Amino acid sequence: MKKSARFENRVGYILYPATFKDSNGDGVGDIPGIISKLDYLKDLGINLLWICPLFQSPMDDNGYDVSSYEDIDPRYGTNEDFKRLLQEAHARDILVLIDFVLNHTSDEHPWFQKALADPNSEERGYYFFRKGRIGKDGKILPPNNWKGFFSTSVWEQIPGTDDFYFHIFSKKMPDVDWNNPKLRDRYYQIARHYLELGVDGFRLDALAHLGKDTSFADSSLQADENGLVYDTDRFSNRPEVLSYLTDFKDQVFSHYDCLLVGEVGGNVTPSTALTYSSFESGPIHMVFNFDTAWANGAYGSIGKPDHEIKTDVIELKKSFRRWYEACNGKCDMPIYWENHDHPRVLSQYGSIQYREESAKALLTTLLFMYGTPFIYNGDEIGMSNCEYEKPEDFFSDVNARNEILSLRQRGFDDATITHYMNRTARVNARTPMQWDRSENAGFGPKPYLNKINQNYLQGVNVQDEYARFESVLNFYRYAIAKRKEPFLAAQVAMGKWDLLDPNHPDVFAYTHEGPELLVCIANFRPYTTYFSFYYNIKDIILHNYGDVIFNNHVFELRPFECFLLKA
Ligand code: GLC
Repeated sequence: MKKSARFENRVGYILYPATFKDSNGDGVGDIPGIISKLDYLKDLGINLLWICPLFQSPMDDNGYDVSSYEDIDPRYGTNEDFKRLLQEAHARDILVLIDFVLNHTSDEHPWFQKALADPNSEERGYYFFRKGRIGKDGKILPPNNWKGFFSTSVWEQIPGTDDFYFHIFSKKMPDVDWNNPKLRDRYYQIARHYLELGVDGFRLDALAHLGKDTSFADSSLQADENGLVYDTDRFSNRPEVLSYLTDFKDQVFSHYDCLLVGEVGGNVTPSTALTYSSFESGPIHMVFNFDTAWANGAYGSIGKPDHEIKTDVIELKKSFRRWYEACNGKCDMPIYWENHDHPRVLSQYGSIQYREESAKALLTTLLFMYGTPFIYNGDEIGMSNCEYEKPEDFFSDVNARNEILSLRQRGFDDATITHYMNRTARVNARTPMQWDRSENAGFGPKPYLNKINQNYLQGVNVQDEYARFESVLNFYRYAIAKRKEPFLAAQVAMGKWDLLDPNHPDVFAYTHEGPELLVCIANFRPYTTYFSFYYNIKDIILHNYGDVIFNNHVFELRPFECFLLKA
């Protein structure tokens, strides 16, 4: 559906609370910490926040395993702190989306506890319980051969019984059954509660997976060494998802002026995504796809030499075009390089060597694309992956932990695993935010969860970045302000978008047609390349080098040089 006017022209910021800012010295970022940085965010030009889950949680998956939706986790603060956060954000015209986990609860949630304790309880029907199968040797086997996202079977046996419950993420995150109207009603009540409290909307977590193939029949795709099959179509973007969302909209969302951004994940086609979010009939406003997140070949690259990990610029451009062509005029879409589930984009598509140039080029390319841009916290100061030393360094993340165990089982040695995880692990995006040069980069007196990137001592921190006129941060501030100027905002939203020289292997360039042609050109390589350009340059709006080399209609583009210009 169409978002209302108050959500127009917003630049989003994805905030990972555990490692953002610790106000009370317990080592965990918290809500008062976020409040203390709202002026910073406003100054950056942010006017929409997506905050990763703040609900009460045993933190098996760092908050995505919720044990009470009605309560803020004490590590993050109190329910009163949360209300204050909403007030303080709104006072600065920053709208707040909270992360709403709908696919599963924690196994410590009272619903699941009741379901376990009493097979006849209402709550038993909120989850998927099935009997195991008897193997040849009389041993009880899981009900089917499916593998989940965190490298294990989707089934967990309840000790002392032949019953199993279903979970596509960790075993501490049992999936709920959206086919059950009573379960749906529970979630509707929670949504109403937060909308009444004043939240401006939700990022709907793992939305793609609300519908499952409840025949739970074995998959016949290729099995792994443990006999498990990674057949995500069995629990991704199935037709029921649309009906669940439509009901949610009718019962709840349509009664509030809110913004709904769903996570629909990998393998989703633009046409399915449109059914969720089209202006005409979609029950929600926009959906995040993953297609543009892994175009450097790092994902699944274990054992590959570094030189094979290189951004496929042509494929990346094609992905954006595919989504634009499907969505233009039909739905809004969120545009992002990275979130808390990915390694740092600077280490993926950018360059440590050309930190400043590449951070600016990536931002410019993202910000002026069709859609609603979302920036991940830390990218505005050019944060990068951390370079861990051993597999255990990634264990704060259940996904990484399980993946590492499975890679060891497949025979990979620790050095190879560490190298691979340094490329791909989402822990890289969850290191403490670097505020200044004081101890622990100004995050707080105790480092939490993940190692701090020591480059905060070399100027990669907010304070130093502020002080330097040409810094990444000051470029962000300027560029975001430009993005919101009515003329440019209208041209990005309405001007026909197209790639320029789509087959150029190194340069990502696009245009928006309008009263004037708006052109973005970015070299995505750490070396010089050339780009033919036959228009008259009328005005350079953004540029990340001190001078321009343009002769005979050809730009000489130095490493990660980028332009936003009018022609
Ligand atoms: C989403 C979240 C991710 C989490 C998963 C399970 O993909 O972004 O962090 O692990 O859902 O809730």
